[in-house]
Amino acid sequence: MADTISRKDAIGVFDSGMGGISVLRELIKIMPDEKYIYYGDNANAPYGTKSKETILKLTLNAVKELEERKIKALVVACNTATSVAVKTLREKYSDIPVIGIEPAVKPAAYENMGAGAIAVMATPATLKLEKFLNLSAIYKKDNKIISIPCPGLAELIEQGITRGEQVNNLLKQFFKPYIHENIRSVVLGCTHYPFIKNEINIFFAGKVKIYDGANGTARQTKRLLEQAGMLTDNKKGSIEFISSNKNKKEQELFDFLLNME
Ligand code: DGL
Repeated sequence: MADTISRKDAIGVFDSGMGGISVLRELIKIMPDEKYIYYGDNANAPYGTKSKETILKLTLNAVKELEERKIKALVVACNTATSVAVKTLREKYSDIPVIGIEPAVKPAAYENMGAGAIAVMATPATLKLEKFLNLSAIYKKDNKIISIPCPGLAELIEQGITRGEQVNNLLKQFFKPYIHENIRSVVLGCTHYPFIKNEINIFFAGKVKIYDGANGTARQTKRLLEQAGMLTDNKKGSIEFISSNKNKKEQELFDFLLNME
């Protein structure tokens, strides 16, 4: 019995709040038989407007919660936490695969081929940190990349507000300086934003292609588990939701997201 309890068999998925559910959805699509433990640090969200030091501290505390539950892999389903902490997490948890998410600039740039501007929506922290600056430097040569910091947006989504005037007003405010740009692609560089994908689509009158990193992250996770021979042979997939804010109902949010498409 003790043996089963201590066996590392779950995939831990972490986000500052509910955003990582958009990544969990993709993981489940391609690995339905796995056991998932989702940890949302809702009590401390948003991370994206906090200092690097605070984000690192919060991330390490949250991941510890997952580690104690004997995970076999960690998916950092938060662009902000990945930007700040993925290196530290890989060092600290070197015995398991640690997968980080990053804004899907690569696929956007590949399809865009310089045809118009690529707008990257993300938290202020993600956009000013080295990880993103290095990524955009690669694709800036052939594409116009516009960074759109979106303070306040993850907070709104965290409150369950995913449509209507408040969302639209923020979008107007964020994109106002760029109305004369020929924006053809929008990269959702924060895992909360897929929850408002429909609103972004309406805002741009369906004229942009929207990208997010969730599917790429899920595929990378599967690849690493496959390579390490760590995919489950169990046929009983399961999800456990844990939140640092006892009032959050991640399960409901998950159902909401599943019903979106
Ligand atoms: N979901 C997080 C991300 O992908 C950020 C939200 C927050 O600011 O906490 O960047």
